[in-house]
Amino acid sequence: MKICIIGGTGFVGTHLITTLVNCGHQIKVITRRPERHRHLRTLSTVKIVDIDFFGNKILERQIDTYDVVINLAGILNPSGLNTFEQVHENVALRIAEATKAVGTPRLLHMSALNADENASSEYLRSKGRARDKILAIDGLNVTTFSPSVIFGEADSFFNRFAQLLIIMPGIFPLTCASARFAPIFIGDVVDAFINSIDNPETYGKNYNLCGPESYSLKELVQFTARQINSNCTILPLNRFFSKPLASLMGLFPGAPITLDNYKSMSVDSVCTEATQNETNRELGLTLRSIESVVPQYLGGKDFSGKMDYFRKKSRR
Ligand SMILES: NC(=O)c1ccc[n+]([C@@H]2O[C@H](COP(=O)([O-])OP(=O)(O)OC[C@H]3O[C@@H](n4cnc5c(N)ncnc54)[C@H](OP(=O)(O)O)[C@@H]3O)[C@@H](O)[C@H]2O)c1
Repeated sequence: MKICIIGGTGFVGTHLITTLVNCGHQIKVITRRPERHRHLRTLSTVKIVDIDFFGNKILERQIDTYDVVINLAGILNPSGLNTFEQVHENVALRIAEATKAVGTPRLLHMSALNADENASSEYLRSKGRARDKILAIDGLNVTTFSPSVIFGEADSFFNRFAQLLIIMPGIFPLTCASARFAPIFIGDVVDAFINSIDNPETYGKNYNLCGPESYSLKELVQFTARQINSNCTILPLNRFFSKPLASLMGLFPGAPITLDNYKSMSVDSVCTEATQNETNRELGLTLRSIESVVPQYLGGKDFSGKMDYFRKKSRR
């Protein structure tokens, strides 16, 4: 199959593309910065292009003749013109409309768990508005996915906490320590995308994606600390301190947390058991746990270049 991916240069996209290439598919990746993503060029059958999404019919010409369009574009923190509204709504709707206009048979769209037009965080509101508008477009064979936090090699969650634990001098102040997450393995997210491509039962539906267990943020940071043999003491902060700290941290480039991140964590990122069972059945998922995967990529890792991660993030 010929598959065009937008937002394919990041964590999720790199895992998804590697699997799609191994399955024999031809991939086109649309990116704003082809020069930064040479790792994808080493994969055979991957073409990388740089386009103006809003140029007259340019996107249509890129996806015409393709069988599937996948949109993974997303940001956690806005910067300059790259606002939540621009990336999560304008770009996403542009992709959905172009997909429909050229008659591409299939669209897969990445949203986020708890995405809702009435959420308190703009990340979740923009993701929710886009998902609802895309699902409402007539004549589009679309499936949307709304995962909790995703883990796996090169993730931004466990790797980020590992980096922070190394930097902190003995005490780790933690905002939203009681917020709950159900981390899902990237391999399971990739399976969800691939298994849905030619399954008409999934058309017009949104799937919430969660891992097999839920944990508080404090438990997840403690788990991370065990993987890297950190003796840092985790200090949960109450609301009185959490909110101002998140606002303050958000002012720094490559901020580990922002006020909007704090707001998105005010709702537990977990699925109900019934929804999860139905999703796993329809998408054919066998979920893997953090305990069975994270030690393989976090344990024994060298974090000596510990600030590099934040420098890279702040350049995005
Ligand atoms: N990772 C998670 O835990 C998680 C959880 C829930 C939902 N999600 C969603 O899953 C998707 C992929 O996440 P990820 O972790 O792979 O993120 P990532 O590593 O930060 O990659 C994000 C991608 O978005 C693209 N992008 C950013 N701004 C763009 C714009 N203005 N126009 C077009 N593309 C733009 C980037 O492409 P270029 O820079 O190459 O143009 C990049 O490939 C996102 O939509 C995210 O919200 C992720």
